[in-house]
Amino acid sequence: MAELKQSPIAIGSDHAGYEYKNILIEWLQDRGYEVLDCGCYSSNSVDYPDIAKKVCQQINGGQASRGILICGTGIGISMAANKIRGIRAAHCTDCYSAKFTRLHNDANVICFGARVLGVGVVEELLEVFLTTEFEGGRHITRIEKLDQLCDSN
Ligand code: RB5
Repeated sequence: MAELKQSPIAIGSDHAGYEYKNILIEWLQDRGYEVLDCGCYSSNSVDYPDIAKKVCQQINGGQASRGILICGTGIGISMAANKIRGIRAAHCTDCYSAKFTRLHNDANVICFGARVLGVGVVEELLEVFLTTEFEGGRHITRIEKLDQLCDSN
């Protein structure tokens, strides 16, 4: 996908996802993607909300087009990302979800659990996520309502 390759992909993980992050950075670079590495930068313990915030700031600030977040389960880091206005983070474990979260949700972040999925599966999911376009149409109103939820209790 030529257009996406012109803008960087932000990636971040906590300590549980650190090894996967390094593997995925190489995977992305091998395919011509520019990567913004938002940490962590060692296997020392860190808090996944801090990493989610850094990656999402790159997207909301326009420095990155999409984001990748990895923790042990993929759950905590996706919960954190989805607290941030403008972020639609999808925790994916299967290709159908990775495809439809782009088609219908215009997900701009994909989240993985390094302690749950093999790295080969993660790479397949990432390929689908990066090469599937948002369908638009009736889904636009729905994703606009996601941001409106940030204002409600
Ligand atoms: C870290 O031990 C672990 O709690 C974290 O990576 C993640 O799985 C949280 O959801």
